[in-house]
Amino acid sequence: MSAKYIPEPFRIKMVETIRMLTREERKQKIAEAKYNMFNLRGEDVYIDLLTDSGTNAMSAEQWAGVMRGDEAYAGSSSYYKLVEAGQDIFGYKFIQPVHQGRAAEKVMFGLLLEKGKYSISNTFFDTTRAHVEATGARAIDCVVDVAKDPAKRAPFKGNMNVEKLESLIKEYGADKIGLVVMTVTNNSAGGQPVSVENVRETSNVCKKYGIKLCIDAARYAENAYFVKLREKGYATKSIKEIVKEMFSYADMFTMSAKKDTIVNMGGLIGIKDDRELFQLCKARTILFEGFITYGGLSGRDLESLAIGLYEGLDEEYLKYRNGQMEYLAGRLDEAGITYQSPVGGHGVFVDAKALLPQIPYYEFPGQALGVELYIEAGIRACDIGSYMLGNDPDTGKQLKSEFEFTRLAIPRRVYTQSHIDIMADALIAIKARSSEITGYKITWEPSVLRHFQASLEPVKK
Ligand code: F0G
Repeated sequence: MSAKYIPEPFRIKMVETIRMLTREERKQKIAEAKYNMFNLRGEDVYIDLLTDSGTNAMSAEQWAGVMRGDEAYAGSSSYYKLVEAGQDIFGYKFIQPVHQGRAAEKVMFGLLLEKGKYSISNTFFDTTRAHVEATGARAIDCVVDVAKDPAKRAPFKGNMNVEKLESLIKEYGADKIGLVVMTVTNNSAGGQPVSVENVRETSNVCKKYGIKLCIDAARYAENAYFVKLREKGYATKSIKEIVKEMFSYADMFTMSAKKDTIVNMGGLIGIKDDRELFQLCKARTILFEGFITYGGLSGRDLESLAIGLYEGLDEEYLKYRNGQMEYLAGRLDEAGITYQSPVGGHGVFVDAKALLPQIPYYEFPGQALGVELYIEAGIRACDIGSYMLGNDPDTGKQLKSEFEFTRLAIPRRVYTQSHIDIMADALIAIKARSSEITGYKITWEPSVLRHFQASLEPVKK
């Protein structure tokens, strides 16, 4: 029996029509898109699981906030509402809105990193890695070993390998480590959570060597929900209390607010108490994002974001959301399809390496499975593997990822149980013909963040 589907704690007030093209049309569209999901038009996709970022459905309250948004260039009341919400939830003195997560990274990382420095993370998300490298610094991943075995179930597969972190700091020299980044949940490792204990231990190591700790906070609420379910001592704590404790161990956060705050655009920087750093951040925000009281956003965005920060913490909602993932995972368990388990907070990361063992990493199994999902059922997913990881910035050689996942990222409050069943049915149908599936080669790629733009073609066998 697969997991029981937990009913939606909301009803639907507004709908958007979607349509399924024929199989022949889908084959043609994906070929025209040069086998790159980012080149497909949204209207040609039936179920869009490319990302959970900015694809969420806002609530009636948030839409009401859109109407209330104050569009003043300076001193918007929506800005003050957002800052107060951020201070209340995270317990940080300084909150700066920006237009999305990578804008926060651009503003912050440029102040702490430069050529010759390193930054270490439990796992960098791709744009975060790119922003570390854009400063001239180098990014090092340091996740716990258990994360690397998708079939092995463990409660906190997103954790930092704290021992390895300390030995890396000793190896490179503490003065060379500009920043440690804790990604919660750990997106590239499969949306896997990080325990409060692990953040505390990481924080202790950072303090010992005088290195700042930054939380990459995109999925702060989903992470706290896992802590409540799985970490000893947190079962009776509220999600908000868990978030506050976790953030108390870091010095700052950068946040893509397009995820757990359930809006379509936005980002935040939080700084616990370093006034001087905040001053420098404000100057860079004005340079890159616009004046500090709007940070690249409209007043209406600030308003819906302030509301979404709280809605993301609602336990009934988090239970339903986690239930969607568990339901899909349960159906895959029945079919013998492996994924990063237990299932992550924002999607199912199917183990494409296990499903398509005939495809080597340099022919991108995660991407190949993504193409098949589109052909099979009009589903758009993405590769989280060697195709996304790209080339070594120093040698230009293809890197081998620890994982070869096809990520089915589930937008928040958007799809229903029958859509989830279509996802499971599509994967089951693909598994039945998996031995016929071949890999891909890149025919053109840009030098940075190539997976967004590259052209591919099937490898002829
Ligand atoms: N950090 C993490 C952990 C992320 O997952 C993302 C984005 C970012 C930073 C950058 O934020 O997109 O607002 O600039 N992740 C999206 C994804 C794009 O599909 O997982 P952004």
